[in-house]
Amino acid sequence: MATPTPAPASTSAPSSEFRPGLEGVVAAETKLSHVDGQKGELIIAGYDVEEIAPNATFEEATYLLWHGERATVQQLAAFSKELAGLRALPDATVELLKAVAKEKKPVMDALRIAAGTLDLNVDAADQELVSKSLLARLPTVVAAYWRLRNGESPVAPRADLSHSANYLYMLTGHEADAAAVRGMETYLNTIIDHGLNASTFAARVIIATESDMTSAVVGAIGALKGPLHGGAPGPALEMVFEIGTAEAAEPYLRAKLERGERLMGFGHRVYKVRDPRAEVLGQAADAMFVEGERRKLYELAKFVEQKALALLKEYKPGRNLQTNVEFYTALLLHGLGLETELFTPTFACGRAAGWIAHCREQLATGRLIRPQSRYVGPHHGRWEQAA
Ligand code: COA
Repeated sequence: MATPTPAPASTSAPSSEFRPGLEGVVAAETKLSHVDGQKGELIIAGYDVEEIAPNATFEEATYLLWHGERATVQQLAAFSKELAGLRALPDATVELLKAVAKEKKPVMDALRIAAGTLDLNVDAADQELVSKSLLARLPTVVAAYWRLRNGESPVAPRADLSHSANYLYMLTGHEADAAAVRGMETYLNTIIDHGLNASTFAARVIIATESDMTSAVVGAIGALKGPLHGGAPGPALEMVFEIGTAEAAEPYLRAKLERGERLMGFGHRVYKVRDPRAEVLGQAADAMFVEGERRKLYELAKFVEQKALALLKEYKPGRNLQTNVEFYTALLLHGLGLETELFTPTFACGRAAGWIAHCREQLATGRLIRPQSRYVGPHHGRWEQAA
């Protein structure tokens, strides 16, 4: 067998600089959102997250992202009505979910499996309608699957409720109060878009081949499912539960840091100051956890946060470790009655509006996304027959 020779240097790439993980590479221009990790700033379609998230409805935020301008009252009413009318799942999707529930698959797997069937009864040539159907139906999939896996019948969607109110209704079978609906609305708006994160990039890569919106959303769900992206807000909440009382906070956190463990819900690759989404979600939780045991949990979480920040400063000086979005996501969604396993699928329901907006933007560029790789394997020369 011929001795392998080192790979030839690439001659075709205009720039052969390799950036692992594409870090620092600007791969798209967007009007959808801007993340400034040094200033702790997140702008969504021209509005600070602190402004848009607690004040807009999810339908309003989605319309703004998809159309680049705010909807008039009439446009918003028509858009909301159309989405509401698309919520019911194709029969085949429900049958599929029943089969998946028998296998007890995780909710994110069920969402990935079912998402590809959501355009079954929609004209594929009408990608605008496919987009709306996807956005309207993802929460129906999550809620229906959750109930099926728990041995309950799915609750049919109601067209007279808003997107957020209907999601909570389909999960529980009861109409949520106005504060809970506002909490869900604020959550979905807060995470609706966040620059060129992994799932958004995946969606843009798929749609850039002039594939279709369903494929792009299924691919994005696949990317979000990974623990490095969809995150694990669950452990942040579990930590607060394990701590249990204010007196236990410092010894618990100190022991964790002494063992070299990480405090969940703190630190971020991009944000080196407080994640603005943590602020928005913290305020939403504050408004929702008004009395009794719920208020006690909120106050304990605030206390744990302050202790954790002080200890992180002591143990990791100069690292600027601040509260991230996961900490208050966990608290808020728990307060809305959602179990931990529903956190990432709920994130997907909100982020889907951003994925679709990015796909629309990418399609408008008409440009295929096709980076290069650098070959680092051997070069064997002649193909010798195996002896
Ligand atoms: N608790 C304790 N120490 C932490 C920490 C945390 N949450 N996050 C980072 N650090 C420490 C690291 O141990 C490291 O210390 P060292 O230099 O003494 O070894 C230093 O801070 C830098 O860590 P690094 O891994 O380079 O930071 P990063 O920017 O790559 O990490 C995260 C970002 C999010 C992965 C990290 O902060 C983390 O693991 N946080 C906890 C998990 C979490 O909340 N994830 C959700 C993110 S939205």
